[in-house]
Amino acid sequence: MILPRTVGAETLDGLAEDDPRAMRSRRDLRRVHRAMGTRTIVARALRKMMAAPRDRAAPLRLLELGAGDGTLMLGVAGALAPHWPGVELTLLDRQALVQHATLERYATLGWRASVRVADVLDWAVAPLGDRLANGGAAHWDLVVANLFLHHFEAAPLGVLLGSIAARSDHFFACEPRRAWLALVGSHLIGALGANAVTREDAVLSVHAGFTGHELSALWPREPQGWQLREHPAGLFSHCFGASRTASIWAAAATTPASRR
Ligand SMILES: C[S@@+](CC[C@H](N)C(=O)[O-])C[C@H]1O[C@@H](n2cnc3c(N)ncnc32)[C@H](O)[C@@H]1O
Repeated sequence: MILPRTVGAETLDGLAEDDPRAMRSRRDLRRVHRAMGTRTIVARALRKMMAAPRDRAAPLRLLELGAGDGTLMLGVAGALAPHWPGVELTLLDRQALVQHATLERYATLGWRASVRVADVLDWAVAPLGDRLANGGAAHWDLVVANLFLHHFEAAPLGVLLGSIAARSDHFFACEPRRAWLALVGSHLIGALGANAVTREDAVLSVHAGFTGHELSALWPREPQGWQLREHPAGLFSHCFGASRTASIWAAAATTPASRR
């Protein structure tokens, strides 16, 4: 039996950045990511999705939506940096959560990371081509979202996905899987030492998560223009990837046959 999708307000979203319960819950989230294997899932998917960015003339521009404290993407950057040098990364979140030390760690990997504090729905309706409103780039090579899309009901999520499609060539999301096993796991998250905020939000996240081809159904209907891939990953995650087919052909044309 498929669980119905319900989006509930998560406690963490209502807490101030410096609320001790929120700070603790964000630390819990790092442990939750380790248990979910998120870093490996995301790094593997991005490597598969983007052909040899080191062959590019300009640095790859990457935007993470709902980036939180930026540490999950830092782990992904650690895995990708040897193959993806000099990435220009923008970390967008409506709270200012990224510490200076985190930005320095990106710099040691050779990535230039910057922070944009904004509500993603404001970003989504900003005029196309407005670099300032769009967080530094008129167009993104890659947009990523982790444990983020499930915050939104179908209507705003459709607007958001439409905006991402208009502003990027590739998109990848790793979200909670709405499934019985994930639901059981979310109820056991206290075993990781998670606080009350994390325990409550974990259960809400699974109820608001995704299954089947729900994200593909919300992606703009341009069947000729995009290659979509939606699938379960690991025990608890649900992934969605979209690539502009023109960008796949262009990459294939510039990649030597020996490296395809
Ligand atoms: C569950 S956390 C995930 C953080 C990070 N992506 C990770 O996986 O570690 C969700 C993040 O989304 C942010 N967020 C929620 N609603 C948002 C919105 N409307 N616009 C921008 N950020 C939002 C929250 O501030 C929070 O940092």
